[in-house]
Amino acid sequence: MSETTDAYARFLLGNYAPPALTLVRGEGSYVFDNTGRRYLDFCSGIAVNALGHAHPRWLAAVNAQAATLAHSSNLFRNEKQAELARTLAELVEAGGSGAGRLLFCNSGAEANEALLKLARLHGKKKAGAEGVAYKVLVAENAFHGRTFGAMSATPQEKIQKGFRPMLDGFEAAPLNDLAAFERRIGADTAAVLVEAIQGESGLSVATPEFLRGLRALCDKHDALLLFDEVQSGIGRTGKFLAFQHSGVRADAFSLAKGLGGGFPIGAIWVAQEHAGLFTPGSHGTTFGGNPLACAAALAVLGVVRDESLLEKIAVRSAVWRAELGAVVARFPAQARAVRGVGYLSGVEFCAETPPFAAALREAGLLVVPAGGNVLRFLPPLTVSEPELAESVAILAHALGQKS
Ligand SMILES: Cc1ncc(COP(=O)(O)O)c(C=O)c1O
Repeated sequence: MSETTDAYARFLLGNYAPPALTLVRGEGSYVFDNTGRRYLDFCSGIAVNALGHAHPRWLAAVNAQAATLAHSSNLFRNEKQAELARTLAELVEAGGSGAGRLLFCNSGAEANEALLKLARLHGKKKAGAEGVAYKVLVAENAFHGRTFGAMSATPQEKIQKGFRPMLDGFEAAPLNDLAAFERRIGADTAAVLVEAIQGESGLSVATPEFLRGLRALCDKHDALLLFDEVQSGIGRTGKFLAFQHSGVRADAFSLAKGLGGGFPIGAIWVAQEHAGLFTPGSHGTTFGGNPLACAAALAVLGVVRDESLLEKIAVRSAVWRAELGAVVARFPAQARAVRGVGYLSGVEFCAETPPFAAALREAGLLVVPAGGNVLRFLPPLTVSEPELAESVAILAHALGQKS
């Protein structure tokens, strides 16, 4: 047992299954373990390393900011937070989602907590003197995070087990079943919160008709339509935000993961008409939007823009997914389908996934388990065409060995 494995076993709480590898270094789309073995990294830190590892622009931005002003708190303005808010607001508007404002935090769960607080503020305004409309409708199999609010919004036994009672007011209906949402929405509903693509739960995609229907329901019942873009945002699906594929308008959405390219940062964007719900003192965080995190995020957004990554992802992912599909079709006894959208894609297998994940790892490719029998393939947004082709070859090799 290595010193690291030993320390994990003795000094870390046991909330994660023991990892298979110890990673020590990353370079572009590849990572290296402590034996020096190289892997094509389509785990990307679970959709975080948007620019791969050690991208020169990200490194330069983080190094320069760390040497200048790393943290200052929200008691003071900092130039990087201002620049990031402006950049994100402009990107969202350019994507057709209207004008809005930003709030920064440190993780996906924390961003979703801020969305839930926004919903509560809206619910108070909606109910007026009568109290508060506090119900939040979510989709079955959703994943919104592990903090109490986000966990209460995550209607999954494996997530909530051992922690009940949950916060009051959350109700789930099946994804893409508009009638079921319609039956539950009403005067007591503050918001509907959904992922346009359910990343953790087997890559189920919300249809554009369903999202348009939710928009109409929210308008009719004065409820906020909230999107969780923590995993699907920052271009991963070929649009800056996954819900933009449907053309619907969001009242607010959350971001995290890819935003910092490996530096922890989360955010919510709130449409201009609801931006007044948060007032001084109504929410806050010590670390949120610190200069170092914002400099990292600005580097990510700069590369996404300057290297036209959204356009590249849309084109390259279509080819890659077709190639993955061709491999899947060759092994019908083992693999069923390619799921997801863009670089938020995966393979649905016919049986439990751990043996396939292990076979892919053995063949030099790291992927991420999702719900059901699905493994997510999450390349960095900067992945090259030969690297995409390599992932297809490794999948074919691993399936060939197992058949
Ligand atoms: C859609 C979605 N929302 C929220 C979260 C929680 O984010 P974090 O782990 O940064 O708290 C995740 C994490 O996987 C996610 O995929």
